[in-house]
Amino acid sequence: MTCPCTLAVLAAGWSALAYFSYKLLNALYNILYPFAIAAPKDLKKLAGGAKWAVVTGSTDGIGKSYAVELARRGFNIVLISRTQSKLDEVKQEILQKTPNVEVRTISFDFTNANLADYEEKIVKQLNGVDVGVLVNNVGMSFEYPDRFDKISGGTKSLTDITVINTVPVTVLTAEILKQMVPRNAGVIINLASAASYHQMRYWSIYSATKKFVTHLTHILSKEFDKTGIVFQVVCPMLVATKMSKAKAAFFSPGPEAFVKQALRSVGHVSETTGCLSHELQANVFALPGLLIDSVMDKGNLAIRNRALKKKEAKKE
Ligand SMILES: NC(=O)c1ccc[n+]([C@@H]2O[C@H](COP(=O)([O-])OP(=O)(O)OC[C@H]3O[C@@H](n4cnc5c(N)ncnc54)[C@H](OP(=O)(O)O)[C@@H]3O)[C@@H](O)[C@H]2O)c1
Repeated sequence: MTCPCTLAVLAAGWSALAYFSYKLLNALYNILYPFAIAAPKDLKKLAGGAKWAVVTGSTDGIGKSYAVELARRGFNIVLISRTQSKLDEVKQEILQKTPNVEVRTISFDFTNANLADYEEKIVKQLNGVDVGVLVNNVGMSFEYPDRFDKISGGTKSLTDITVINTVPVTVLTAEILKQMVPRNAGVIINLASAASYHQMRYWSIYSATKKFVTHLTHILSKEFDKTGIVFQVVCPMLVATKMSKAKAAFFSPGPEAFVKQALRSVGHVSETTGCLSHELQANVFALPGLLIDSVMDKGNLAIRNRALKKKEAKKE
């Protein structure tokens, strides 16, 4: 007869093997399925035939790339961003690349959380178009990481980041759902960040507001799971844009390459880092929980020290 101790050890061994096999299969699925195996879904079909896509923060980086790529797939585009001259430039660029689509622009500063202004400047214009895809991309980060009480720009910066990263996604999703629900179709893509995966020291409000976006998107996916509306939250690591100041490389793709991959995954996964190299980082090269804080602290403090030195040098 096998002794109970041996049975317990065997059970623990099999449980561990089952757990690690599940983790491995899950990682492989996340890395390969949406970006290399699954056939991209027809976004026009998911949009239920609606002809327009709305992208916030669409004059640069990831948002601009979503706008260009969605126009390439035949959607008319509403660009919503802060600076009218940049909106005009991006509109011309899209029309040159895809002359068959229509492009409209709305200039709005998303640090403004006033609902009457949203209604007057955005909602009224959007009520006149059938929106099949909404990309809630606009977002803001710190100039450099630092402790909460020392953030560059102080309370104003903390408030602006909180507003930009949470209010537009809330208001625009609520408004656009009013037309997607009766149509029983549509795609809503929300840009969060891998910063939402951890309670990131020195990125307080950025990390916390991105967690808000992730959490909200998952809740909406559940609330609308009996409808044809598709929600996706995208949690990138580094993408080479003005915000990140990163150079384009395998692990920090340029926004165009990033968005092409991210759009491939729509309708297949409700949460993604957005591209294969970021999924590799999240699933294979992820640090064990205990190490994350210390490794990230070192990196973040180095970024902060370099930024402070630059600031000092400018003053002299
Ligand atoms: N880049 C990354 O590594 C990374 C990683 C994770 C998550 N993300 C998220 O991805 C999204 C896009 O980031 P990105 O790197 O592409 O940013 P980006 O290159 O800095 O572009 C930001 C865009 O947002 C617009 N914008 C900024 N402040 C605004 C305001 N107050 N009102 C209206 N529009 C405003 C900018 O318009 P103007 O031209 O007028 O400034 C620009 O079009 C953000 O939500 C960000 O948190 C980025």
